[in-house]
Amino acid sequence: MDQAGILREYAGNAGVTGGRDASTGRSKKSGVRVIAVTSGKGGVGKTNIAANLAYLFSMQGKRVLLLDADAGLANIDVLLGIAPRYNLCHVLRGEKTLSDVVVRGPGGVMIVPAASGIQEMAELSRGHKMTLIEELECFGEKPDIMVIDTAAGINGNVTYFNMAANEIIVVLSPDPTSLTDAYALIKVLNRGYAIRDFLVMVNMARSAEEAMRVFSRLSAATDRFLDLRVEYLGYVGYDRIVTESVRQQALFTEMYPSTRASRLLGAIADTLMNDRKSRSDEPGMLKFFGNAVITGNE
Ligand SMILES: Nc1ncnc2c1ncn2[C@@H]1O[C@H](COP(=O)(O)OP(=O)(O)OP(=O)(O)O)[C@@H](O)[C@H]1O
Ligand SMILES: [Mg+2]
Repeated sequence: MDQAGILREYAGNAGVTGGRDASTGRSKKSGVRVIAVTSGKGGVGKTNIAANLAYLFSMQGKRVLLLDADAGLANIDVLLGIAPRYNLCHVLRGEKTLSDVVVRGPGGVMIVPAASGIQEMAELSRGHKMTLIEELECFGEKPDIMVIDTAAGINGNVTYFNMAANEIIVVLSPDPTSLTDAYALIKVLNRGYAIRDFLVMVNMARSAEEAMRVFSRLSAATDRFLDLRVEYLGYVGYDRIVTESVRQQALFTEMYPSTRASRLLGAIADTLMNDRKSRSDEPGMLKFFGNAVITGNE
């Protein structure tokens, strides 16, 4: 058996996902759905979208784990005004367990804070990835959904976390460079990692029409040059409420649940929860296992 096979077996025995129930012999997928929020260009609103989506899912009764996978600066903890003692770095170094570092955010969302500005986190080694997988496996409170806030761009961590996801939400803004950068990211994920399905949302649009125009430009390019599917999820308008809640270190969907931005993101959360089920036949956590073997330096 190859390494990926051994790991899958291990995952099955340990009862993660995709294993078999000893009594029934049926596949017992735990059904953890992994959703990555990503973008080509920075500053398009990924962290805000990821954190607010996580909150909206938890309001629908889901157990949600929000993983801050951006090793850059100022992330979910800053957005929420929390000062966690430990972060992902402690887990990856084997100093703490996932349970030790998880902090509860709004709506009971379980947050794994990022290791900001630490050079060794910039490109996770294979050992780090294995540790993360083991920690997710041993984590007592199995989430229904794991939302991953990735860094912008195309470094190794970004591709890794996108590969590990069942669904990838690419966030665009009306800025033309966001479009070209998103196209470049999608192309790399498609050509280099055989990912063929992408969900797209537009943030900070001035109107529904503008958002649709932005999406159409992207889909025209992907349809023409790449063999993949981009699906429009919806948009969130440019809204001072978002900046205001960032200033107050709170989530706009929690603070201002009935404003336009919250309703638009709520519609996207509903679409993800109700109208479209995860398309992947491979549970995300299991993908984590396989991909950790395929990628990563020693
Ligand atoms: N819909 C919106 N309306 C107005 N401002 C917004 C909106 N969405 C995000 N912003 C603002 O844009 C800024 C960047 O947002 P955010 O940090 O979520 O982006 P990001 O894509 O995670 O950035 P990075 O690539 O640096 O991680 C924030 O200051 C936020 O207030
Ligand atoms: Mg961010």
